[in-house]
Amino acid sequence: MIIPFFDATRLVKKTEAETNAAIKRVLNSGKFVLDEEVNKFEKEFSSYIGTTHGIGVNSGTDAIKIALKTLGVGTGDEVITVSNTATPTISAIRELGATPVFVDTDEYFLMDVRKIEAAITRKAKVLLPVHLYGQTADMVEIMKIANKHSLKVVEDCAQATGSKAGDKKAGSFGDLSCFSFYPTKNLGAYGDGGMILTNSKEYATTCRQLRVYGMQETYFANIEGFNSRLDEIQAAILRTKLPTLDSNNERRAFIAHQYLSKIDNPEIELPKIRNGNLHVFHLFVVKISKRESFIDHLKKNSIGFGIHYPFPVHLQKAYEFLGYKNGSLLNTENDSEKIISLPIFPELTDKEIESVIEIINKFKFK
Ligand SMILES: Cc1ncc(COP(=O)(O)O)c(C=O)c1O
Repeated sequence: MIIPFFDATRLVKKTEAETNAAIKRVLNSGKFVLDEEVNKFEKEFSSYIGTTHGIGVNSGTDAIKIALKTLGVGTGDEVITVSNTATPTISAIRELGATPVFVDTDEYFLMDVRKIEAAITRKAKVLLPVHLYGQTADMVEIMKIANKHSLKVVEDCAQATGSKAGDKKAGSFGDLSCFSFYPTKNLGAYGDGGMILTNSKEYATTCRQLRVYGMQETYFANIEGFNSRLDEIQAAILRTKLPTLDSNNERRAFIAHQYLSKIDNPEIELPKIRNGNLHVFHLFVVKISKRESFIDHLKKNSIGFGIHYPFPVHLQKAYEFLGYKNGSLLNTENDSEKIISLPIFPELTDKEIESVIEIINKFKFK
C-alpha cells in the first residue's frame, strides 16, 4: 500500500458537486475579482475566527506584508519572529525593507516567550509569532510582553486555522492576523489565497486600500499599495469548505490521537501539546535522531513524509546578510536536524493510519 503524505484529489472528488456549483455561480455572475463572494467570505471567515473585519488578499505572504505595512513597518524597523517557520514569513518582512529578529523556539516548536524580551531593541516595532504546525503560540504571554514594550502584534496563522489557546482562536489575539489558503492548508483553496483579520476599523480600511494599489477611490491612490486581490472563484470555493473546517480539524485531531497513543517506538519523540491549547495538526511532526535511516525505512514501506523545515531561515543563503551563524538559535537548529512530518490529512483512511503506526513501530536503527 502506498500512503501519500498529502493527496488533494481525495477531497476534490468528495466535494466535486459543491465545488462545481460554486464555480458555475461565479461564472454566471460575470464578476471575477473582489466582489460578492469575497465580501461574504470575509464576513463568514472573520466571524468564524472571532474578529470584526476580514480583508481577502492573494496569499498568506501578502497578508503578512500588508498587515505589517498597515502598522507602518518599513526600512530600519525590526520585526521579532522565529526562524523555524516557512520562508514566506520572513520574505514578507523583507519585502518592506524591515529586519527580522529571530527568537529561538520552545519544546512545542513555537516562539519561546522566555526569550522574547532579550531580542527587543529600540528599533523593534512588531512581534510576529507563528502558530506553527497547527498549534497556537503562548498568546497571553506574548500580548503581555507587547503591551509592556508598546509593540504591535501580528499573528502568522497560516498553519493554524481553527486552533485555539484557551477559548480564543488563533488570529483573534493580535492587532492583525494573517491566514493562508494555499491548497495544503487546513482551509485550502484551489489556488492561492489569504486573509487579514483585525478588530480595528482603521487598520481594515488601510489594508483594503493596500490590496488595490493603495486606492480608496478608483483611479486615485491614497497611499502606495500593491495588487493583492482574492478572486471570486477561490472565495466561492472557500465558502463551500468553511462549514466543514471544524469536522476536518476533528478528523486531524483523531489521527493525531491515534499516532500519539499507538506509536511506541522509543526512537521517536512525539509532539507535545501546550496545556489549554486546541491543536489542529496541520502537520504531525515527530523528532528522531537517526533521521536518514528512518527516511529509508519510510521510503521502503511507501509512506510519504515531509520535513518542515530542513533549513532554518537564519541559515539559508538568502539571509546570510542578517549575520546569524550556526549556534545562534540552538533549539531551532537541533530540531531542524531531527524533525520529520508524518501523513496527516482528513481523507487519510483508518486502514492507512493503522498501517503508518505499524510500520513506524517496526523501525529499528541498524
Ligand atoms: C507559517 C507560514 N507563513 C506564511 C505562509 C505563506 O502563505 P502563502 O503560501 O499563502 O503565501 C505559509 C505558507 O506557506 C506558512 O506556512
